[in-house]
Amino acid sequence: MSTKGLNEIVPGVFWVGASDWHRRLFDSLITLPYGTSYNAYLVVGENKTALIDTVWTPFADQLLSKIGKIVKPQKIDYLVMNHAEPDHSGSIPKVLSVAKNAKLVAMKRGIGMAKVYYDMPEERMLEVKEGDTIDLGGKTLRFLAAPWLHWPETIFTFLVEDGVLFSCDFFGAHLAISRLFDDEAGDHLMSEAKRYYADIMMPFPIFVQRALDKIKGLDIKMIAPSHGVVYRNPKRILDAYEMWARGPLKQKVVILFVSMWGSTEALLKAFEEAISAEGIEAIPYNLAVSDLSHLSRDLVDASAIIIGSPTYLSGAHPLALAATEFVRGQKPRTKLVAIFGSYGWGGGATSQIEDRLKQSGFKIIETLECRGPPKEVDLEKARNLGKRIAQKIKLETST
Ligand code: FEO
Repeated sequence: MSTKGLNEIVPGVFWVGASDWHRRLFDSLITLPYGTSYNAYLVVGENKTALIDTVWTPFADQLLSKIGKIVKPQKIDYLVMNHAEPDHSGSIPKVLSVAKNAKLVAMKRGIGMAKVYYDMPEERMLEVKEGDTIDLGGKTLRFLAAPWLHWPETIFTFLVEDGVLFSCDFFGAHLAISRLFDDEAGDHLMSEAKRYYADIMMPFPIFVQRALDKIKGLDIKMIAPSHGVVYRNPKRILDAYEMWARGPLKQKVVILFVSMWGSTEALLKAFEEAISAEGIEAIPYNLAVSDLSHLSRDLVDASAIIIGSPTYLSGAHPLALAATEFVRGQKPRTKLVAIFGSYGWGGGATSQIEDRLKQSGFKIIETLECRGPPKEVDLEKARNLGKRIAQKIKLETST
């Protein structure tokens, strides 16, 4: 068979996924300026054929059409489910309705998820355990548990002979692709990979580190994730993940704020000036117009977070509260937080945010709240606090 015009990533392994160029939102939260892709891979051995993951349901026919150019879909022997989320597994029922003899391969938790999500009957599934292999004939698939990256049932599949790691969402990026490989991608690749890491993987820091340690034992020549490009330079994304997961924090402060009549914003400006004057990067996000998924990217390696909110009714402004909950859930490595705000007749914003963050182990450096438009004395307090935060960061990041 000629493989010309097919997306063959190594001999006998084909990208048969779909690019969703026009999708602009994921999880009703994460913006997708470059769309996304649902990557599926066909592994053709001498004796057997396996499909690694599928695509989101609206792209099922596209998947089957791409497979059909390589082998008859009816000939698929195994459908490996690395992850049950519908963007990768939504087309499992359709593929299995065509490939009538194929078994759905997953670990125990995946088997459970396949029943819940896809009503999969027991007899269509094949349970594998950590380290189990399937020999396709010159192509051996080895299965590795990768729990909570980012669902409990997630696994990696490693193609032993070619050193290809099918890592599912891990190492992914939301990018629709017309060219497959990392060295063919635009400058935005690593920035988007970092945003993806921040949004999807950062909430699971222990599991990220375990997975990075686990795959160190593999002879990885290529990383083929479920979104975005294939890394034929795997070191590029491996090094980036090491840096994001456990590299040094940067001399950077992320300031999240919302302001109604300019009082909280005036305090923000005082913080920003004082921190910048110390040579520390200060990045303000006005929550009224900011994208949480972009903010999350800056949390990956920030050394401190400052949250500002006016009192709205008797507590924090709803946008500040939502951002506080988002920060709690994303589990940034820094736990240093300062809180500021303003109020007209009764405060409450800063204490509400403080309570929520303390519950998640954040260390509150200080809170600062002023009544009405800040006076010079209030601005000076903000400048002083900003300066102390910056100096603390310099001390901690230089040792
Ligand atoms: Fe891309 Fe968790 O699915």
